[in-house]
Amino acid sequence: MSKELQNKELTLSESQEQTIQENEITALEPTFNKLVDTAISRRRFFGASATAGLGGFFAFSSVGNAVASGMGKHTMAKSPLIGFDAIGTSTADTVVLPDGYQWQSLVSWGDPLFANAPKFDPSGNANAASQALQFGDNTDGMSLFPLSENRAILAINNEYTNYKYLFANGGESLSKDDVLKAQHAHGVSIMEVERDQHNYWRVLDNSNFNRRIHVQTEMKLTGPAAGHDLMKTKKDPSGTQVFGTMNNCSNGSTPWGTYLTCEENFNGYFGADESVARTEEQKMYGIKNNEKRYQWYKQDERFDFGKNPNEPHKFGWIVEIDPKDPKSTPLKRTAMGRFKHENVAIHVNYDGTVVAYMGDDERGAHIYKFVSKHKYNANNPDANRNLLVEGTLYVAKFSMTQDKGAGEWVELTFGKNGLTPENGFADQAEVLIYTRKAAKHVGATTMDRPEWIAVHPEGHQVYCTLTNNKNRGKEGQPVGGPNPRAANHYGQIVRWTPPNGDHRADKFNWDLYLVAGNPNQHQDAYAGSHNIGSHNMFNSPDGIGFDQGGRLWIQTDGNYKNKGDFLGQGNNQMLCADPDTGEIHRFMTGPVGCEITGLEFSTDSKSMFVGIQHPDAHFPEGGNSKPRSTVIVITRKDGGVIGA
Ligand code: FEO
Ligand code: CA
Ligand code: CA
Repeated sequence: MSKELQNKELTLSESQEQTIQENEITALEPTFNKLVDTAISRRRFFGASATAGLGGFFAFSSVGNAVASGMGKHTMAKSPLIGFDAIGTSTADTVVLPDGYQWQSLVSWGDPLFANAPKFDPSGNANAASQALQFGDNTDGMSLFPLSENRAILAINNEYTNYKYLFANGGESLSKDDVLKAQHAHGVSIMEVERDQHNYWRVLDNSNFNRRIHVQTEMKLTGPAAGHDLMKTKKDPSGTQVFGTMNNCSNGSTPWGTYLTCEENFNGYFGADESVARTEEQKMYGIKNNEKRYQWYKQDERFDFGKNPNEPHKFGWIVEIDPKDPKSTPLKRTAMGRFKHENVAIHVNYDGTVVAYMGDDERGAHIYKFVSKHKYNANNPDANRNLLVEGTLYVAKFSMTQDKGAGEWVELTFGKNGLTPENGFADQAEVLIYTRKAAKHVGATTMDRPEWIAVHPEGHQVYCTLTNNKNRGKEGQPVGGPNPRAANHYGQIVRWTPPNGDHRADKFNWDLYLVAGNPNQHQDAYAGSHNIGSHNMFNSPDGIGFDQGGRLWIQTDGNYKNKGDFLGQGNNQMLCADPDTGEIHRFMTGPVGCEITGLEFSTDSKSMFVGIQHPDAHFPEGGNSKPRSTVIVITRKDGGVIGA
């Protein structure tokens, strides 16, 4: 989702802000003097000290040097991983790719997913029943589940919907059916896809696998918070049932063949009269009284938190879906915590433990790790079905030792680390339902909006996009460590390494893989790290993922005005990076107004699926057509491996 649309400031009490600030500064201070010597050599970052403060400057510079050494653009070696000629920026209303590549539309908002579904009606007058049979709006994370070499099930998130295009009247006032239509535009779309001999993919709208999951689909809560009093509502006295999922941002998939969809800005769908007092926890999750954007609570009482104060607790989770069984009940995994989930990167540790890395996309929110209690068994897929039900949740605390990034995973378990009744946590369910409160309590590092996380295919490193944070440097969000610039509007990618490749470990080392910037407009830290130049600059990294060959793909959701600080950066884009050399090449530019989000590959790596979310002119049909979020497929004209 576009950064300004829904991410609201994380609301903290004064005492919490104080605790966080003190914790972070304490973590960085002991290394401060040593960092001075190593940092001074980089003139480019000297300018940052005036703006960002000394802590931020030295932490960033030392790490920037470590990462970027030998990566200056004049000495940059051509990566053996990257085999295409990089393209320039674009402001055109289309997709642009390197020579030798082509793209096709696969599915756009409103396309029929069933034989009896109506065709897309661009007027905005189609009803809720139609939308329930069509591809949802605002495509986001997706995963492919192969059935054979040329057939697969594709599960795709539909993050939110644009009332400007969904309704003929722009959604100024909504009927009950309008609200239901908006709810049907959200969720997940599952469809079978097939490739022909020309490498062209199409959706099979008569497949029995096809399914729409939306805000009225019945689901079950699992894990420690299921059945808790805070989950009980008028409609569900058991506290175990949920209807629907929403704001499904990015995703993950498991080695046992399930799809994981992540609920991000769920808060924006709840509202209540101004007279309803909000709890501290509701404020912390950004729930507001007079919600105007979606207006669901006025037509659907479930979303009125004055009448149903526990209903918001049923959202903000990771949901596990079996894409091969269209009758299966989606399962919300409460053991993995409740926050504004971006994506989930699953890694099976060498001992079989399943580790899930997750970001909470909010200014000043945190990075988490879930470690399963039980082990993955490749020989018994059914035994893996409950691996995400039980486990331990941790939150990241970044620090520095010597001139290196260090860190620890702090356990979020009831009774440990001060998560006790005296501090407002009655049991493990409360620790999980109010994960943000628990993370703040243990002094987790406030990050510059953690978006996607990806584990390198060899398993030794984990990468996370920190997309931007205009509040960095303000109270409670000190500059320093992996968040080195005040008023950070360009973003960076942090990566961490677990010791000896053991992802269960409670320590890690980290550095910054890249710091985005604009070297044409700035000479200081806002120019970016050494691997950013005029030729490959961008802002606001968001989606990331590795292909089988180890190439890192980076998608952006940033400022596309192409003016001022962003002059020369053009429309949102996708880049291809070599994780070892730091080399970064622009691979694709998107149409006007869109963000690029959603990334998947065919098993032979010869087809790449990419999401074009919220285009805002006339993509994909051109002319005067209504813009529609669309999944495209990129192939090579010679049928080769993408990126190679
Ligand atoms: Fe849905 Fe944080 O992006
Ligand atoms: Ca974003
Ligand atoms: Ca995103």
